[in-house]
Amino acid sequence: MSCPCCRPGGDSCDEEEEEEEEEVGSFDMSMMKDRVQHLVDSGVKEIPPAYVRPFEERPVDVRTEQIPVVDLSGIDGKDRQSVRNQVGKACEDWGFFQVVNHGVPGKVLDSMRNDGRAFFALPMEYKLRYACKPGVIASEGYGSKMLSKDDQLLDWRDYYDLHTLPLSRRRSSGWPDDPQSFRETVLQYSHQMKLLAERILELISESLGLPSSHLREALGDPSQNVSVNYYPPCPQPELTLGLQAHSDLGAITILMQADIAGLQVKKNGMWIAVEPVENALVVNLGDMMEVMSNGRYRSVEHRAVVNGDRDRLSVATFLDPAKDCLLTPAKELIDEEHPRLYKEVLFRDFISAWYSKGPDGKRNIDSLKVIPSIESHQTS
Ligand code: OGA
Ligand code: NI
Repeated sequence: MSCPCCRPGGDSCDEEEEEEEEEVGSFDMSMMKDRVQHLVDSGVKEIPPAYVRPFEERPVDVRTEQIPVVDLSGIDGKDRQSVRNQVGKACEDWGFFQVVNHGVPGKVLDSMRNDGRAFFALPMEYKLRYACKPGVIASEGYGSKMLSKDDQLLDWRDYYDLHTLPLSRRRSSGWPDDPQSFRETVLQYSHQMKLLAERILELISESLGLPSSHLREALGDPSQNVSVNYYPPCPQPELTLGLQAHSDLGAITILMQADIAGLQVKKNGMWIAVEPVENALVVNLGDMMEVMSNGRYRSVEHRAVVNGDRDRLSVATFLDPAKDCLLTPAKELIDEEHPRLYKEVLFRDFISAWYSKGPDGKRNIDSLKVIPSIESHQTS
């Protein structure tokens, strides 16, 4: 979803990347009907049917729990082993963890939150100048729909998706210039997320018994997308979702969920609301991590819910393999006891399949299973 997963700006469309930079400024006001914020501003009291989830998908009876919190402050010293073990355990048990003392300056996080909110507070006329192109799945910009299909159930979410890395994909001169600091803020945020993602990938590699650089190298020249998710207040939050259940399709995602709860994670078949921890960042594993680890670690279904009286902003940074990267289980993780569970896949092909079908929980990765009925080693 924008994660692709659910990720709105998935890196899946060649046409888009080859396109010339478009002049910002032309826009079509009819597109505003597709923005959730427009619905809310027009005062709807009942949500339109396209946003109403079937009963079994509605966010009811959810427990609140804290997912593991890992303190990264000691990773360059004697605590590395202990941190690596905690990361490994969190990956095995949850596929999700939060990091604190992660080294990302508080002011970089604050600026991203503030500038993100400031953008969504601007008039629709301005925001639509940056609208992502309807029907183009990998289009960068301001949007709302996850897929381009007409018959999809919709999420109670608008987003701004930014293609930040590698530099060859970055067109920062086309990013919003209001608030004035927006572009600089995103550049700094992207840089910090790159550094943090590299450190986390090293820890995850080591926790699998692989050389520190294994996962980083396995991703080729990775893509990074920063998605600013904006969830307006909703008159009937119990009927809908801000973001439908999905697993992220790349390697790892780093989510700044800020101070307002909304993220939920599926564990043992039950949805659990993740309690926000101040200044923490949430890390979760994507489908390609499941493949590379031969199922030792799994991508995990998650979703976001919305509130009746408060809006919510989150910022998801997706680290994905290069499109031409062939993903395959690490050979060190395959032996007699642990047969190969996943076929190799070209990331480009995985993304196209994802976007043509939609997330449907984490069904997409099933097509990569060597024997579809074999569950991975872990039983969550
Ligand atoms: C995502 C995502 C959760 C949230 O963008 O892929 O899972 O809380 N977001 O916004
Ligand atoms: Ni996600």
